Amino acid sequence: MAALYSHPSAAGILRESTAELRSMAVLDILQFPDSRLRKVAEPVSDFDQNLGVLIDDMIETMYEASGIGLAATQVNVHQRVFVMDLSEDRSAPQAFVNPVISVLDEETDVRQEGCLSIPGFYEDIARPRSVRIDAKDRTGADSSATLDGLAAVCVQHEVDHLDGKLFLDYLSALKRQRIRRKLEKAQKQSA
Ligand code: NI
Repeated sequence: MAALYSHPSAAGILRESTAELRSMAVLDILQFPDSRLRKVAEPVSDFDQNLGVLIDDMIETMYEASGIGLAATQVNVHQRVFVMDLSEDRSAPQAFVNPVISVLDEETDVRQEGCLSIPGFYEDIARPRSVRIDAKDRTGADSSATLDGLAAVCVQHEVDHLDGKLFLDYLSALKRQRIRRKLEKAQKQSA
């Protein structure tokens, strides 16, 4: 939490000026095979206080779940927003709004991926190793970055979520079915 205070946001400042102070909330994360994970998210048009609140809640939710990335789709908000923090000490949260990815190097790297919506499963996935991302921040300002390594994987994984795609879609149908059955069983047992 301390880390977030060192990155004061426009939304945070706005919020402090309102009469009712709101603390950040941990949101529910949709679990595969929930069909809402398949919705395609809409572009964000209003860079307002609500967007700031959503981003702060998503960061809180990502930290609570010990994730390195979280897309709005996963918390059942179908807007093109994701958050990411690849720092060791969880001190560098970033938010990407209306992200667009361009592949810079078609050469692929294979890395093990997991997903907060597919708990307990990790699979090797091949993705382009170098990408450029263009996005807006929570204030609507443009940003862009050239990424490789884990960051390149993470942003591709999160933008897939916004398009209703999961890393399981890169696996064989058989493997996907197996994971689906195991998760459905686990969800029934915990219900
Ligand atoms: Ni994911």
